[in-house]
Amino acid sequence: MIETRNGTLFLDGCDTTKLAQKYGTPLYIYSQTAIEERFAELRRDFVERWPGARVAYAAKSFFCLGMARLVAEAGMCLDVVSGGELRTALAAGFPAERIEFNGNNKLPGELELAIENSVGRMIIDGAHELEDIESICRAKGKRMKVLYRVTPGVKADSHDYIVTGKKDSKFGFPLDEDVIYPAVEAAIRSPYVDFLGFHFHIGSQLFKNEPYLQATDAILELVRHVKACYGVEVRELNLGGGFGIAYNDEEERKPYRYYLDPMMERIAACFDEMGLLRPALVVEPGRSIAGDAAITLYTIGSIKEIKGLRKYVSVDGGMTDNIRPALYQAVYRGVLANKASQPAEEIVTVCGKCCESGDIIIKDAKLPKAERGDLLAVFSTGAYGYTMASNYNSIPVPAVVLVRNGRDECLVQRQTWEQMTACQRIPDSLKGE
Ligand SMILES: Cc1ncc(COP(=O)(O)O)c(C=O)c1O
Repeated sequence: MIETRNGTLFLDGCDTTKLAQKYGTPLYIYSQTAIEERFAELRRDFVERWPGARVAYAAKSFFCLGMARLVAEAGMCLDVVSGGELRTALAAGFPAERIEFNGNNKLPGELELAIENSVGRMIIDGAHELEDIESICRAKGKRMKVLYRVTPGVKADSHDYIVTGKKDSKFGFPLDEDVIYPAVEAAIRSPYVDFLGFHFHIGSQLFKNEPYLQATDAILELVRHVKACYGVEVRELNLGGGFGIAYNDEEERKPYRYYLDPMMERIAACFDEMGLLRPALVVEPGRSIAGDAAITLYTIGSIKEIKGLRKYVSVDGGMTDNIRPALYQAVYRGVLANKASQPAEEIVTVCGKCCESGDIIIKDAKLPKAERGDLLAVFSTGAYGYTMASNYNSIPVPAVVLVRNGRDECLVQRQTWEQMTACQRIPDSLKGE
């Protein structure tokens, strides 16, 4: 998808330097072909190999109206975690029954919106949520399909901020018998919900399948208990997302089968042994679909060399469009898009324009000699970049473009100063004369 033609970087058939001229920089550019290929891999290696399997794309990784259409057209489901993501999906015409609602503190208005629209699944994450769902269902004459999110007590190998499966987590129910079993029993007995099964999501940017298998074992234990104690068969298991992608030369993306095959085998063996119908399986990948499908394009501005120490190359964006280096010490790769065939000559620190010393995009980038006006392309910025963008330093959120086989279309326009300040008011007391 990424190639060099005549010294210039192309993504999905589009000349990135022309995209910079047309849309300006910083610019997020998504390859539609790359996204579709990920969905195709999941369809072939998961959905078509397990009856009732579904993929619920994690909207938090990258989402907008156009992405909702792409997910819908690929026949996938959607994992949302807020009223805003839900409204975006519904506004794009995404079928509500294919939406799963996650989140550790769903607000009353969000629950109402989800239930009113009859979303496909509510993933119950905390102690009071069942009661809240029941009271809305009672008032609206609805019955919702629910799963319980559990923290299986596994420690996945990733940055602390993105591991979520350990017991000490704000998400989900711990597996303590006096916590999870009464909660499940309440759902089983409730006339307002249809209890389907369990959900886990153990973390993000994971490269090993062992923690997934440990988590699978933990929920299979729950499955056995629920059958033995309540005579109820678990019909659905949601295995979360978290599959890692390569941001730099040290990391290597693994095929989905590496994670999913052993989990499927283990689940099949357990259900077969118990004589139960195999459950529907769901996964919720985000990063592994959107992450390496996109690049961010920046224009290089000021360059500062501190002799014998470091050369700082500043770009026209930074932590406002990509918070991950500052938040998780994420390491990225980049090239000069207009000098893509030139050999690397120097090691520089690519920094953003925000007033934070930590606003570094790439600490030791190996680049050809960078000059003002050059275009820097940073790879694998498709996940948790645009959706985590901020207006720090009153910097507008960049535009987002979708490219496919030489065609480019706008997904999100660049935010204007008027839009950025539209909610701001000068109080009467401060208006002066
Ligand atoms: C519940 C849940 N599902 C899915 C995901 C997606 O994870 P990833 O983007 O790493 O695939 C997340 C991410 O935090 C999550 O919290």
